Amino acid sequence: MKRSFNIVRCAAAGFGLLLLTGCFESPPMETVQRGYRGTGMEQVINPDLLAEKVAANLPPETQPVMPLPGPKSSELYKNVQVLGDTSAGELAGLMVAMTEWVSPEQGCNYCHVADMASDELYTKRVARTMISMTQNINQSWGKHVQPAGVTCYTCHRGNNIPEYVWAEDPGPKHAARITDPGQNTVSLTAAYSSLPYDPLTTFLQDDAEIRMASATALPTGNRQSIKQTEWTYSLMMHFSESLGVGCVHCHNSRAFASWSESPPTRVTAWHGIRMVRDINNSYISPINDDMPANRKGPLGDALKANCKTCHQGAYKPFYGAPQIENFPSLGYTHSAVVMPSEMESDESDSEPMNTSDEEDVTEASLTTENDSSRVMVAG
Ligand code: HEC
Ligand code: HEC
Ligand code: HEC
Ligand code: HEC
Repeated sequence: MKRSFNIVRCAAAGFGLLLLTGCFESPPMETVQRGYRGTGMEQVINPDLLAEKVAANLPPETQPVMPLPGPKSSELYKNVQVLGDTSAGELAGLMVAMTEWVSPEQGCNYCHVADMASDELYTKRVARTMISMTQNINQSWGKHVQPAGVTCYTCHRGNNIPEYVWAEDPGPKHAARITDPGQNTVSLTAAYSSLPYDPLTTFLQDDAEIRMASATALPTGNRQSIKQTEWTYSLMMHFSESLGVGCVHCHNSRAFASWSESPPTRVTAWHGIRMVRDINNSYISPINDDMPANRKGPLGDALKANCKTCHQGAYKPFYGAPQIENFPSLGYTHSAVVMPSEMESDESDSEPMNTSDEEDVTEASLTTENDSSRVMVAG
């Protein structure tokens, strides 16, 4: 009796061990230092998973579409409003590339009817806004996207609608008279945590305050609560998940709030947050009236962009491969296009500047990585 009990115990232990080893990721992990030696800011990387991600994020093969001498498209065609400065050859090349990027199965007819100048299809009208949005991203948000730049492919990757989009999340259904706390349910946006499930409306459409740490030891006016901190955390989970990185990619976890101890990537991310708000508020939400119902979220708002729309699990889209260099016409804003509204900025939201005297990574980033001379300008 005792013996068979032991056998059962051994078998159960063996099975448990088998289950456990199944949980370990197989190859030896690699670690990358993100800060000075001794700070313990290590990014753990599984080489197998990285290889898979690199394979899934290859840039497209494209033909350069360069300006050619000759009359401008605005003189040759009837209805070019945002690509008027291109030559005829450049316009044709860009149309071929756009077809590959957005509607490879449907072809030119996805946006055009027999009269190419007609704006009859909503897809063409939306595409015009998208061209102007892409030009604006490359020109006005160089501190985030340069030198690689973005094209339609960065988001669309051969799909009519990008794979990673979001809309306001109504959350799970509740019994009557139960108020929704906005959390404590599996949140896909916050990487399967139970943190607030819709940080995107709050932070990437609206401009709610993300920072909440006090600069002083005693309570001196900081009104941020623990509940608000959970919303910040939820957004941070979205960042990590979208870029395929841990918190130390942008922070020294010893002091999350300190800019002078953060790697330069955090400054790039700061500009990225403002860029995504601009994309969603100045371009995508305004086209919503023109979009059919199946292109809207459950509450009727537009399908918008977040960090994952471009990054798709890579710390830089396509791991930093250049996107814009073959398409200069997507790199400047045509004068006819209304520039996006300047973001309101108060003191706490002002661009992070390093106040420390020591030469450190953040200082370097603000002078070299984010040099505004790298922003592509009309040439
Ligand atoms: C994703 C949508 C989209 C696709 C696909 C597309 N186009 Fe266009 N096309 C546009 C937009 C938008 C404009 C207007 C650009 C502007 O206002 O500056 C335009 C303008 C044009 C014009 C100028 C028409 C005129 O007289 O004003 C021609 C010609 C043209 N496209 C040809 C093509 C060809 C050929 C293809 C297929 C290889 C194609 N397009 C695929 C969106 C598209
Ligand atoms: C920052 C990411 C991003 C970039 C860059 C981008 N798009 Fe989009 N695009 C979107 C999103 C998000 C939607 C969905 C909008 C909605 O449904 O409200 C969309 C929708 C569209 C649609 C509507 C398709 C449909 O079937 O309803 C067209 C056409 C389009 N984009 C063309 C383009 C073209 C052409 C370019 C490049 C000049 C481009 N996009 C660049 C994010 C992007
Ligand atoms: C891609 C870069 C990036 C990643 C990854 C990231 N953060 Fe952040 N984090 C930022 C930026 C940028 C801000 C400041 C936002 C602003 O000021 O608008 C911030 C702010 C914060 C703050 C508020 C600091 C303050 O001043 O009060 C906390 C706390 C925080 N992050 C925690 C985390 C945690 C925890 C993780 C990992 C789950 C994480 N972050 C991952 C970029 C990042
Ligand atoms: C329109 C596309 C797009 C969107 C949306 C976007 N990014 Fe980026 N991001 C880029 C590109 C392109 C680069 C690479 C620029 C270069 O270095 O060439 C980049 C680089 C970065 C880097 C620097 C990485 C490094 O290791 O140097 C960080 C951090 C980052 N993005 C964070 C974010 C965060 C956080 C969001 C959402 C708030 C976001 N991005 C949204 C296009 C995008």
